[in-house]
Amino acid sequence: MGDARPPLGTLTPNRFLRQHWQKLALFLPAAITEARQLLSPPDVLALAGDERCRSRLVSRRGNDWRVEHGPFDPARLRRLPAKGWALLVQDVNLVSRAAHDLMMRFDFIPQARMDDLMVSLAPEGGGVGPHFDSYDVFLVQGVGTRRWEVSDQRDLTLHEGLPLRILKHFSPDQAYDCHPGDMLYLPPGVSHNGVALETCMTYSVGFRSPSMQELVSGFLAHLDDTQGPGGLYADPDLRTQTSPSMIPQPLLNALGAQLAKLDISAGNVRHYLGSYLTEPQPHVVFSPPARPLSRARFAQEAVRRGIELSLATRMLWAAGAVFINGEHVQAERSVKGYLTRLADQRYWQADSPLPEPFLDLLYEWYRAGYLLLRRGLPRPHHPS
Ligand code: SIN
Ligand code: CO
Repeated sequence: MGDARPPLGTLTPNRFLRQHWQKLALFLPAAITEARQLLSPPDVLALAGDERCRSRLVSRRGNDWRVEHGPFDPARLRRLPAKGWALLVQDVNLVSRAAHDLMMRFDFIPQARMDDLMVSLAPEGGGVGPHFDSYDVFLVQGVGTRRWEVSDQRDLTLHEGLPLRILKHFSPDQAYDCHPGDMLYLPPGVSHNGVALETCMTYSVGFRSPSMQELVSGFLAHLDDTQGPGGLYADPDLRTQTSPSMIPQPLLNALGAQLAKLDISAGNVRHYLGSYLTEPQPHVVFSPPARPLSRARFAQEAVRRGIELSLATRMLWAAGAVFINGEHVQAERSVKGYLTRLADQRYWQADSPLPEPFLDLLYEWYRAGYLLLRRGLPRPHHPS
C-alpha cells in the first residue's frame, strides 16, 4: 500500500542503520516530496479536535510557556494569535490512511519499534523550544520552512518549573532549513530546536523504546496472571528461634522456591512481549461493522475487494506465534505464513478463495473491527 520504498535517498536501509540509527543525525533534502500534499493546516486544526488523537497547544510569551491539552474546540483554535504557538497532534496514523502510509514507509525499522506519527502546525516564529527527546525521530517537513538547530551538547539541564521540557542552555552547532519534503533524522538525546520561518507543518515519525524495568515488571505481572501467585506464606510448623530479629530460613526458602518455579522460558517471554507490543493504547476503540456480512458473503468480498487491517490494529509475530491487538492468535500451522504476510503488508489481495482456517480468523477480526474490506480496486502505488 502506498510507496513502499524507504525514504532514504541513495542510502540503503542497512547503511542508514549502521551509520545513523541511534548514533548520528542525518539531514536528507527532498526525501519525501509527497509530504507537501499529505495534510493541510486546516486538516491539522480538525485533527486537534479529534478525540482519537492526543493533542497539545504550546504557547509562549517571552519566557512564559504554557501547555493546553486537547481535544480542542474549534472555537478555541479560531482564537489563536498570529504568533507564539505550536499545535501538536499525535496518533495521526490512527485516523488518516495517508499519514499511516507515510509512517509505514519507515518499516525498514521493525514495526515493534514504531510508535506514532505526530503532526505539528506553527505560525512564523513558533516552536516548542530547545529540548531533547528520549526516542528516535524522523522529522519530515510538510508545509513551509522550518529551521532546525541541532547540538550534540552534553549539558542537558532543563529549565525548572515549566510545563514542558526546555533546555536551560542551548548552543547549536548545526542548522538545517527544512523545506517541504526534506527530512531530518535525530537519534535519542540530541538537542534540537525547530523554529518556523513561516507558517509550517512538520511530521514526526516517532519510535518507542520500552523501558527494560517496565518490561520486567510487566512480565512478572503477566506470570502472576497466568500462573497464579501461590497464595500467602503459611508456617504451621513454626519453631522458636534464639534471635527474634532473624528472618526465618523457611520464609527465605519459600520465596526462593517460588521464584525458581517462574517460567522464564523463551515461549513465555515471546507471549508476553507479543501481547504487550500489540496492546492498543487505552483510548483506541475499534468500530465493528454496523451490519456485518454473513461469512459466505464476506468470503466472496474478501477475494473480490481484498481486506486491510484497521489503522489502529497492531499485528506482530515471533517464532510462529502471532499477536493481534494484545491477543495471542490461536492458529493452525498451515495459515501461519498467511498471517505473517498479512502482518507485514497489512492488507490482503487474493484472486483465489482463501483457506478456511485463515478465513475464519479474518471473519472474526472483521466482526471485531480489527480489519475491513477494501473499498474496491487495489490502491495505486503512491500515498493517497
Ligand atoms: C515539532 O514538530 O514542532 C516538534 C517536534 C520535536 O521537536 O520533537
Ligand atoms: Co523533539
